[in-house]
Amino acid sequence: MSDFKIETKCIQSGYNPGNGEPRVLPIYQSTTFRYTSSEQMGRLFDLEESGYFYTRLQNPTNDAVAAKICDLEGGAAAMLTSSGQAANFYAIMNIVEAGDHIVCASAIYGGTFNLYAHTIKKMGVEATFVDPDCSEEELNAAFQENTKAVFGEAIANPALTVLDLEKFAKAAHVHGVPFIVDNTFATPINCRPFEWGADIVTHSTTKYMDGHATCVGGAIVDSGNFDWEAHADKFPGLTTPDETYHGIVYTQKFGKAAYITKATSQLMRDLGSIQSPQNAFLLNLGLETLHLRVPRHCENALAVAKYLKNHEKVAWVTYPSLPGDKNYEKAQKYMPAAHAAC
Ligand SMILES: Cc1ncc(COP(=O)(O)O)c(C=O)c1O
Repeated sequence: MSDFKIETKCIQSGYNPGNGEPRVLPIYQSTTFRYTSSEQMGRLFDLEESGYFYTRLQNPTNDAVAAKICDLEGGAAAMLTSSGQAANFYAIMNIVEAGDHIVCASAIYGGTFNLYAHTIKKMGVEATFVDPDCSEEELNAAFQENTKAVFGEAIANPALTVLDLEKFAKAAHVHGVPFIVDNTFATPINCRPFEWGADIVTHSTTKYMDGHATCVGGAIVDSGNFDWEAHADKFPGLTTPDETYHGIVYTQKFGKAAYITKATSQLMRDLGSIQSPQNAFLLNLGLETLHLRVPRHCENALAVAKYLKNHEKVAWVTYPSLPGDKNYEKAQKYMPAAHAAC
């Protein structure tokens, strides 16, 4: 639905029922899917044929919701995860190995900081944290021979720093690695990082996407733009045979869907952080009103920020849409819809 407005995509994308089929996305609450021959099951297991067989790997409800989020971001392929933490873990682990390194903006959600600074370090992956407002020289200096990705949040939780997406994308691409953006706070209503050079977007759908505080969840979207083959030596997991799938080379077999297919068929297979179809259904209901709720959130937040700014007992206020805020210009550039809403 790439030609439709984002408001229409919030409602219509991802699920396209035929005549006589349910108008509302059904909940496929089934662990397994039926086949009459074990030969066909074998082909599905071996990724020689596409189809559903086990919900840890793929489920029709989850796939429809992932497709909607993919469309909202303007991506090529997407998957749901059980939480935002799982999304950010998978997004990195899908392309690193022990001995690798990532560059990360220092203003990020505390849980993600712990994940990248401490937990993946125990797995042999080091992170260098950079001030999001650092110069291009300082940013470039953070890269190492073994750097495999750059990560940042479009709007940082809780600092509300707006990331200079073009600056980070440029540095990532000069060094031949993808730029991964957590777009949780901005949502695709306010910012679409792929339009500014990001390669992969992650979400904690737990927040505005869900919108009703019912379900913890996450999503990963791939733009399909990063050329893994051009940097094949850095990303052997995508560009050389996967022995756990009879020698499949993801980039050759799946093209723009290579990154998400690998994350689904390897990481989800082995680590299993799947979102339940019931939660995906509720997430989808939240997504249907995302375009209505996000502008209202922005309007309300700006009113609160202005009130507090003028309050004698308040020492300081930061809100990116507040005139004079240090993130104001970047917010206007990268999130124009947030301003139009106010
Ligand atoms: C920006 C951001 N990313 C990721 C997460 C982690 O998401 P979850 O709580 O869904 O695991 C959060 C949670 O607050 C967040 O704010």
